[in-house]
Amino acid sequence: MPGKLIVIDGLDGSGKSTQSERVAKCLRARGEQVKLISFPDYGEPSSALVKMYLGGEFSDSPNGVNAYAASTFYAVDRYASFKKFWEKEYLSGHTILATRYVSSNAIHQMGKLPRNQWDEYLKWLDDFEYEKLCLPRPDQVIFLNMSRSVADRLIEGRYGGDESRKDIHEKDRAYLQSCQETAEYAAKAQNWRMICCDDGKNPLPLEFVTERIMEKIESRA
Ligand SMILES: Nc1ncnc2c1ncn2[C@@H]1O[C@H](COP(=O)(O)OP(=O)(O)OP(=O)(O)O)[C@@H](O)[C@H]1O
Ligand SMILES: [Mg+2]
Repeated sequence: MPGKLIVIDGLDGSGKSTQSERVAKCLRARGEQVKLISFPDYGEPSSALVKMYLGGEFSDSPNGVNAYAASTFYAVDRYASFKKFWEKEYLSGHTILATRYVSSNAIHQMGKLPRNQWDEYLKWLDDFEYEKLCLPRPDQVIFLNMSRSVADRLIEGRYGGDESRKDIHEKDRAYLQSCQETAEYAAKAQNWRMICCDDGKNPLPLEFVTERIMEKIESRA
């Protein structure tokens, strides 16, 4: 019996990494064997194309690399991670907790296409990553919904005020805004669990968000 694959996704700075660590702790305390994975897998050579793309080697702007091309860069990185680092554990029943996954392509790439092509893109993405590459389908995708202004404040200072260190996604405000729309669209279409992570002005307490995530996982609701 394969284990569970739970995905924690969200826009930049929404608390994905922080919450994934906290949720892994909770699941381990319940006796589950948990493997925490994260995408892109920056420490591995499989992320080379993603790094070239985000570093602006193909274009200064995210839109200079079309949605399908950019999606393949992220997909092959997932494939390599699966084969090298978590296939065995997953197949032997461990819980895999992923920070970002196939859902991130929908969030970050779909907005490059006109809205009337979004359904076609989601269908292609599903077929490419799950059917053709045979990556496992998640049991649940949990989306951390945090407004842009609050998330921006949380990650302020990450680069010590040096704007030049931001990647081509982080530099592009309009692009980041469009990701909110694609996330909402994909969440509805694919039944993601949305967790509200701020009150409009400030982030909600970390413990509160973790509890909401655990409720979703426990109830599979
Ligand atoms: N609910 C919260 N309350 C207060 N601080 C938070 C909250 N959630 C996250 N943070 C802080 O905000 C920052 C961004 O969080 P984190 O790095 O987990 O986000 P992320 O979604 O993984 O970001 P990225 O997309 O850049 O990887 C961190 O410093 C984290 O400690
Ligand atoms: Mg992170």
